[in-house]
Amino acid sequence: MKDSIITYKSPKDPISEAFRNMRTNITFADIDDEMRVLTITSTGKGEGKSTIIANYAVALAQSKKKVLLIDCDLRRPRIHRLFEQPNKRGLTNILLRECEPTEAIQTTDVENLFMISSGPIPPNPSEILASKRLIELINQFKLAFDYILIDAPPVGVVTDAAVLSHVTDGYIVVAAISVTNKEGIRMALETLRNVNGNIVGVVANNAPVSKRSGYYYYYSAYEEDQHQSKKEKKQRKIKEKRVK
Ligand SMILES: Nc1ncnc2c1ncn2[C@@H]1O[C@H](COP(=O)(O)OP(=O)(O)O)[C@@H](O)[C@H]1O
Ligand SMILES: [Mg+2]
Repeated sequence: MKDSIITYKSPKDPISEAFRNMRTNITFADIDDEMRVLTITSTGKGEGKSTIIANYAVALAQSKKKVLLIDCDLRRPRIHRLFEQPNKRGLTNILLRECEPTEAIQTTDVENLFMISSGPIPPNPSEILASKRLIELINQFKLAFDYILIDAPPVGVVTDAAVLSHVTDGYIVVAAISVTNKEGIRMALETLRNVNGNIVGVVANNAPVSKRSGYYYYYSAYEEDQHQSKKEKKQRKIKEKRVK
């Protein structure tokens, strides 16, 4: 497991304490509505979504809840890397009926915490996430787990995070304090409200994203991730280095 899963590596660290506070706060937000399916998103990439949801998942599992963490960022999947697990079989394989759901659920080093990696990156992530099959699947998982946590792509970039509103009881929105501008966060919250998304909290994160990766820059990066060949991506990287 990567060092950035600090709730596992250093449970006594004040950061781990912050994740436990987050757990308490969300549990209290939960009194009237049953919030068992939580989705994390933000306005751009690199703001700390995957890191935060993975740490949150550990904190929940440590409180003896049975937790399933699903990587629904089918464009830049990271959960399997954080838990140092393979991504041979994952969500896309289940949705394409290439394997049984139980075959794609992986254990982690944390008791009570299970994960499903993204699976192979599909050409049409939004469609896949909007599928009825995903709703059925999550409902099925709700029978076996106390909490289902979903790592999603940025909400400003593509429709994926909003599409997940069909299965999400509450959204956690991450704002990287060094880059997320007011307009970006306003837009993200509005997009989620437009699909009747229930926002349970906004987490301010001090992620080390560079200033020039502003919101509009993310947009093109995500679009290109989908369509560009490896060679084009490499050329773009070289170009970006020159710009810096
Ligand atoms: N608060 C933080 N302090 C230091 N590094 C962080 C922090 N939050 C995130 N990171 C690092 O920033 C990078 C991007 O984080 P990640 O969780 O992958 O973002 P996202 O899922 O939003 O794209 C990772 O290398 C992660 O370890
Ligand atoms: Mg991520």
